Amino acid sequence: MNLIEIQNRIISEKIRLRKKSKNFVNNFKKIEKYIQKEVAIIKESKDSIIPEIEFEDISFKDQTIIKDKVFKRGCVIIRNVFDKKKVIELNEDLDKYVLENNYFEDQKKKIGIDKYFSDLKSGKPQIFGLYWSKAQSEIRHSKEMETVKKWLNNLWNYNYKGKHVFDPNRELVYADRVRRREPGDDTLGLSPHCDAGSIERWTDKAYQKIYNDIFSDNFENFNPYDARYRDETIEFESPAVAHVFRTFQGWTALTEQGPNDGTLQLIPIAKGMSYVLTRALLDDVPENELCGSKAGKALSINEKYHSLLLEGLISIPKMNPGDTIWWHPDVVHAVEEKHQGKNYSNVIYVGATPYCKKNIDYIKKQSKKFIEGKSPPDFAPEDYEVNYKGRVTTNDLSELAKKQLGLVDWN
Ligand SMILES: [Fe+2]
Repeated sequence: MNLIEIQNRIISEKIRLRKKSKNFVNNFKKIEKYIQKEVAIIKESKDSIIPEIEFEDISFKDQTIIKDKVFKRGCVIIRNVFDKKKVIELNEDLDKYVLENNYFEDQKKKIGIDKYFSDLKSGKPQIFGLYWSKAQSEIRHSKEMETVKKWLNNLWNYNYKGKHVFDPNRELVYADRVRRREPGDDTLGLSPHCDAGSIERWTDKAYQKIYNDIFSDNFENFNPYDARYRDETIEFESPAVAHVFRTFQGWTALTEQGPNDGTLQLIPIAKGMSYVLTRALLDDVPENELCGSKAGKALSINEKYHSLLLEGLISIPKMNPGDTIWWHPDVVHAVEEKHQGKNYSNVIYVGATPYCKKNIDYIKKQSKKFIEGKSPPDFAPEDYEVNYKGRVTTNDLSELAKKQLGLVDWN
């Protein structure tokens, strides 16, 4: 679709979506009230409002309380997933991989290929287009990560009338990048956004079904953890837009990092997307626009239209090497503008991508890129690692890793 076609589509879909409600302005106001309450709770909270659980507890402890919190907040910290010493070693390995292979020289030559974040105010982040290092592979394919992802996937309602939308216990691996942020960096944050679709959230048929309760005055019944239709969304073709269904996005901390260390920020409201969706239907938004969202880019959350929601944006608490953070695909997130700490703030991105048709289709394409050492299909084709020393190859992989990468069948 060209720009004019996209704008026409936005105009016609807005008319349709408004008709789902008896009064779309009142529907928005109801949702706005809910968000106001949630923002007040976040602001008044003395302790961190982001739910936390120890890795050793996820298999044993009674989990009703923690699960209710995750359902409400759309995010969770799972601590001590990996042995701290091992993670420090992996971080050193990753440093070596970057430096010995002259990543910085390569990167200068390829600036501009990654256009995904170009519209977010802060510009290009200190996120590296590296996918196949030993450190990333070990974290992604570990037994610990498998346990964590099963737990996360099982938080969703995935079973409808006997049909499984996905299999929560068979996990695929989505190769993603690395954040390696140097102390003092003050230019390379990420402004608030959501991945997994921007204007698609209004225009795509599957997304319309996912969000139907929100548009049709039934916001109270909207359950962000219903998996139905989540595997059927079709995204605009664009480099660096995720074409998988992730139950949670997430990362593993490689270094100690707290607020002001250039770390992650979240708006911990699982239903926050309902505000973004209904806000775009109001009359002060140009009819051919969706509050600044653009096809093929991250969904932008901005002061002009979303100032109330943005009041709920908080930095996550201090993370130690081996801790992990997870957030729902509808949850707004950002990376702090300034890194005022003294140490590198490094993370490996690992999302939870359970076995389903959408994900296996992607993983098959990704496995070809893995074998060639190229950037995965969802990312800009920078292909830094083709000739890198220390890149992981099939011979380095466990049987579980081969299944997770779609190199051998799960069955
Ligand atoms: Fe993101």
